[in-house]
Amino acid sequence: MQNDFIRGLPKAELHLHIEGSLEPEQMFEFARRNRIDLPFKSVEEVRAAYAFSNLQDFLDIYYQGAGVLQTEEDFRDLTLAYFRRAAADGTVHAEIFFDPQTHTERGIPFAVAADGLLAGMAQAETDLGVTSKLILSYLRHLSEEDAFKTLREAEPFLDRIVGVGLDSSELGHPPSKFARVYKASRERGLKLSAHAGEEGPPEYVWEALDGLAVDRIDHGNRSLEDPALVKRLVADGMTLTVCPLSNLKLCVVDDLANHPLKRMLDLGLKATINSDDPAYFGGYIGENWTATTAALGLTRDELATLARNSFTGSFLAQGEIASRV
Ligand code: ADE
Ligand code: ZN
Repeated sequence: MQNDFIRGLPKAELHLHIEGSLEPEQMFEFARRNRIDLPFKSVEEVRAAYAFSNLQDFLDIYYQGAGVLQTEEDFRDLTLAYFRRAAADGTVHAEIFFDPQTHTERGIPFAVAADGLLAGMAQAETDLGVTSKLILSYLRHLSEEDAFKTLREAEPFLDRIVGVGLDSSELGHPPSKFARVYKASRERGLKLSAHAGEEGPPEYVWEALDGLAVDRIDHGNRSLEDPALVKRLVADGMTLTVCPLSNLKLCVVDDLANHPLKRMLDLGLKATINSDDPAYFGGYIGENWTATTAALGLTRDELATLARNSFTGSFLAQGEIASRV
């Protein structure tokens, strides 16, 4: 069975927003222990609200959901719950994003989020044997000045944060808006990734490459509209962290059968499969792999390539990668 083969394939997840792993049950649990009123009466009502027609529809409800995260313990419990699910799907390494500004903007200190996440990651490695790295993601709908403030807040944690990302509302917020803070992030030894070409045009992917000098592109779907860009991404061996069920839920694709993942592989692009915000998009990494494989008829060779890409595209050190592929 292809699904057993997929589960047994050691794999890494490179595109996961930890706030996007907040399941409705957990949202109620955190709201209860933090004495927060939710605008929903039941888990079913929450799930019914997860019908999105674009990225912004989702972001509005995702930022609202994150409001229940108050204490270090909340962040730790959230992280550990994600790793339990990821481990059950055969994930042996994960590089997880968090959005510090989503928390600092509502008065939760950077350190509360970071310490809680790092505690959950350490426990996941001990209990489940899953290794991980933490990436802080700048919110692109906010200013570059605000991103600089976040980088300053991250200073005491830079030995435990592997890199930076750029997420939130893509259209109208091109990567070039963040060129200076990316340069500063690089100077602090951080790896660089950016969401580009999810809803935004191919020009945004060019900007992420040439203006930000990223190591990885998150999504990158719309790169396929520009043959010169595809050629460049292939020549650079650039990893694309593709998120099929997210693309379906956010109407980036109309049907998984039309998802560009197979075309990406055929073109020689270094694509990977990831879950993005699994609690909101109907599936963790395992479901992303199995649903995409069924819809596109991926072969075992292609699945093995995708698994290999997830390690060679990771921010693990070269020596660590060699022992895993
Ligand atoms: N934040 C969380 N998930 C995101 C996505 N898919 N695109 C942009 N920002 C996000
Ligand atoms: Zn994302």
